[in-house]
Amino acid sequence: MRKFNTIIVTGGAGFIGSNLIRYLFNTARFGGRIVNLDCLTYAGNPDSLSDIEAERGGKTYFPEKTDIRNAEAVRAIFAKYAPDAVCHLAAESHVDRSIHGPRDFIETNVMGTFNLLEAAREAWKDREDVLFHHVSTDEVFGSLGDSGYFTETTPYDPRSPYSASKAASDHLVMAWHHTYRMPVTLTNCSNNYGPYQFPEKLIPLMIMNMVEGKALPVYGDGKNIRDWVYVEDHNSAVWKVMTEGKTGETYNIGGENEWENLKLLHRLIEIVAAESNKDPEALRALIAYVKDRPGHDRRYAIDCSKLKRELGWKQGMSFEEGLKATVRWYLANPRWIARVKSGEYRNWVEKNYGSRG
Ligand code: NAD
Ligand code: DAU
Repeated sequence: MRKFNTIIVTGGAGFIGSNLIRYLFNTARFGGRIVNLDCLTYAGNPDSLSDIEAERGGKTYFPEKTDIRNAEAVRAIFAKYAPDAVCHLAAESHVDRSIHGPRDFIETNVMGTFNLLEAAREAWKDREDVLFHHVSTDEVFGSLGDSGYFTETTPYDPRSPYSASKAASDHLVMAWHHTYRMPVTLTNCSNNYGPYQFPEKLIPLMIMNMVEGKALPVYGDGKNIRDWVYVEDHNSAVWKVMTEGKTGETYNIGGENEWENLKLLHRLIEIVAAESNKDPEALRALIAYVKDRPGHDRRYAIDCSKLKRELGWKQGMSFEEGLKATVRWYLANPRWIARVKSGEYRNWVEKNYGSRG
């Protein structure tokens, strides 16, 4: 079992990263230091870790507002903290945004990953007691028909600017392993849901629109399929792979939980109605079929048997309970939501952290 003293988590102010840092300290009982390297884009929110900051800030938790597109700044963080592991999550993550503006995706997801790999290579030289873990997506595998699953050997076939940029970053990570012998591990995960997700992604967007009485936009025929996994289960898998996975290997993570978007929306409507005393019929009336996403992948489904068989990973959360917990979290946290959505939060970031690093 690998042990680490200092982990740089990139993108730790985002949805999965903030949940990961909380999981590492509170559940995995990680006893070392975590550096949260994040430049706080619209999706990065230090509020998501205010509990961790209050308890551990400056002691075992170190937020660093740094842009991975800035190679010098990244090198300086390695020099300052001498990490023995990196868990790399920082990315532009939203497919629709990648269609409207792909440049940031190439610069952050591809060049940013390159900058991190080079900083790690320079700092670590030929050390073997270190690890670069790369968090990636099942979208690199393309789109499935009605049957079959993505496995670790499925050929890459990315089809959106987002997935192409993530595929490129995966290839860079594996190339640094094969060429420079850098100890790396890589995970490809399906759709996450849970607290602290920016309300542009399907589940939180739909919850918030129901709360606000706004239209519920269903792309195309609503029959696209995603495989949903609770964010804490994704993070427990990432930690399993970081501590017990074989270097140079990739592991698929998924929820074994496929849902058509429209069926999921109907279930979500029932839960939101029950949790907030709303009329489910009135919520159903908000459903609006809108123009399909260009290049919309039809179906994702992950075979995660390697992770279960080799590392003994298990999910802890059922979809039913996870959805309820997520709905309750969004209903109970209107302030967090209002700030990330209003732009007021952006002003606050500028005032407190200066312009984007
Ligand atoms: P997110 O958009 O919520 O958070 C991304 C974080 O990265 C933000 O805090 C942002 O400020 C930071 N960031 C962006 N550009 C940066 C830059 N140039 N320098 C430093 N920090 C930067 O994303 P997420 O949903 O938490 O996803 C995290 C990672 O997991 C991504 O790599 C994504 O591809 C991957 N992933 C996500 C899912 C999912 O369902 N959300 C599934 C599989 C894999
Ligand atoms: O599969 C893993 C990926 O899951 C991650 O790599 C991405 O970072 C993450 O954003 C997510 O990508 P998707 O494109 O699958 O997620 P999104 O929430 O944007 O959409 C989920 C499905 O819902 C998809 O079929 C598109 C559809 N959709 C989405 C939105 C935002 C709608 O029908 N209406 C919407 O308003």
